[in-house]
Amino acid sequence: MRPAITLTGISKSFRGPHGTSVQAVQNVSLQIEEGEFFVFVGASGCGKSTLLRIMSGLEKNFEGQVDYADGIFHADRSFVFQQFALLPWLTVFGNVEMPLVARGIGEQERRHAVTAELKRFGLEKFAGSVPHELSGGMRQRVGLARALVTNPKILFLDEPFSELDSFTATALRKDLLQIWAERKMTVVMVSHIVPEALELSDRIAVLSPRPGQLEKIIINTLPRPRQQRSPDFFRLEDEMYGLIKA
Ligand SMILES: Nc1ncnc2c1ncn2[C@@H]1O[C@H](COP(=O)(O)OP(=O)(O)O)[C@@H](O)[C@H]1O
Ligand SMILES: [Mg+2]
Repeated sequence: MRPAITLTGISKSFRGPHGTSVQAVQNVSLQIEEGEFFVFVGASGCGKSTLLRIMSGLEKNFEGQVDYADGIFHADRSFVFQQFALLPWLTVFGNVEMPLVARGIGEQERRHAVTAELKRFGLEKFAGSVPHELSGGMRQRVGLARALVTNPKILFLDEPFSELDSFTATALRKDLLQIWAERKMTVVMVSHIVPEALELSDRIAVLSPRPGQLEKIIINTLPRPRQQRSPDFFRLEDEMYGLIKA
């Protein structure tokens, strides 16, 4: 395996009012392997979202360096947001089609790809609906479909299931794992939910409270599919609760 992403000495400060500054991330260096499911956890406000935005290219103003493996370009990355971030005036079809329009893909190819992705997420019947007509779970399915329609090599997700009820979140985690297994992409996700991180990940980076520094990388060797009630699961869960400082 080769690293898909290499972070070297990533730091980020935000300028506050009256010339003050808030350091969000401090000196984070690590590598994410191609094809792995990598999760960042840490307390609220520790800099997880900031770090993910830097890694994905959404945030361009930072110290340090982000390197991608050869052959991974900007268009090969997709992002799924906690608040879905759908365009309210576009239909489900229009939202999922958007990144293909942005890439200049022709109409026929777009229709084909969008239809397949909507089908994948059980959204065919809602193609003509607008986001406010959908439940939260359906909206995040649209968010996932929009991210995946371009067939990304790297998928970034920022607490994608936090706004959903636990049944919907459980179903979407299962979908995500299946898609990851099918498409063999690299997944980088932020979570503040310890069992979620353990259920999904190959490795977990625990960040310290702000400014976010790398506390520890946990290698998650639990056999898949993860059994949430197994002694090994509980043991890792305890270890993580001990590491995450609020
Ligand atoms: N655009 C911004 N401007 C100013 N401060 C910000 C901005 N984004 C994040 N911060 C601050 O940086 C810190 C880390 O934020 P964030 O990365 O969102 O944390 P997390 O995702 O772990 O909850 C917080 O103190 C937050 O208030
Ligand atoms: Mg966040």
